[in-house]
Amino acid sequence: SMMREISGINETEEKLKKALGLEDVVVVPGNSDEEPWVKSELGRACAYRIKAVLMGNNIIAVTGGSTMAAVADALTPDFSAPEQLLFVPARGGIGEDVQNQANTICAKMAERTGGKHRVLYVPDQVSPEVYKSVVNEPSIKEVLTLIKQAEIVLHGIGEAITMAKRRKTGKEEMEKIIQGHAVGEAFGYYFNEQGEVVHKVQTIGLQLEDLPYILHVFAVAGGASKAKAIKAYMNSKPKSTVLITDEGAAKNILACS
Ligand code: F6P
Repeated sequence: SMMREISGINETEEKLKKALGLEDVVVVPGNSDEEPWVKSELGRACAYRIKAVLMGNNIIAVTGGSTMAAVADALTPDFSAPEQLLFVPARGGIGEDVQNQANTICAKMAERTGGKHRVLYVPDQVSPEVYKSVVNEPSIKEVLTLIKQAEIVLHGIGEAITMAKRRKTGKEEMEKIIQGHAVGEAFGYYFNEQGEVVHKVQTIGLQLEDLPYILHVFAVAGGASKAKAIKAYMNSKPKSTVLITDEGAAKNILACS
């Protein structure tokens, strides 16, 4: 639009695409670190994009976090076939508080759109023995099968240390994250600046290697403080990911590239 051209947002998007090697980027005005309404704008931009790609029977896998919660808040009951929407948590427990959990967010997304949702009840940090028996539990198996069939994945990106602390990560794992110079986190994977995985939270559900098979992947993350994290994650070269971010993050990413 005219407004976006005048404010230079279109130009920022073009620059950001080049800097991050992405085909599609959306930048909303503002810095969500400073103004809370910007996070709602990220949510709205994501909701708009979801509608644009929806076709037929749709399974949408979602991660946790406050940005995903903002996406849920931005969803409205005007989808053409809401009964065909199915929201599933992308991965099992990764140590978030209830309001930030993917299960809670999926329930909200279903409620707001008139779609359906499934829950994935898996304890955080499962031992290999528990893991083996849990994945064979019929109710969990069903959800895992649905996750693998998802056409859309919506996920957040966080700053590594912030996330590790928010999850009350144990001493040993914390050491691994720090020693590995992790700066970014997504799906329970911690990335260094080069985009290499230095630590991974052991849980079931979507794995990083499943991403290339998902048709539409939307990464939603903003705020100047997340610039390094976003850059690190994009250095892992996630295939066909659309980044939805804000000016605060965009300007910082461009300033250090
Ligand atoms: O814990 C789920 C998660 O999506 C993380 O993978 C991500 O780093 C974080 O939440 C983002 O949280 P927020 O949107 O609150 O910054």
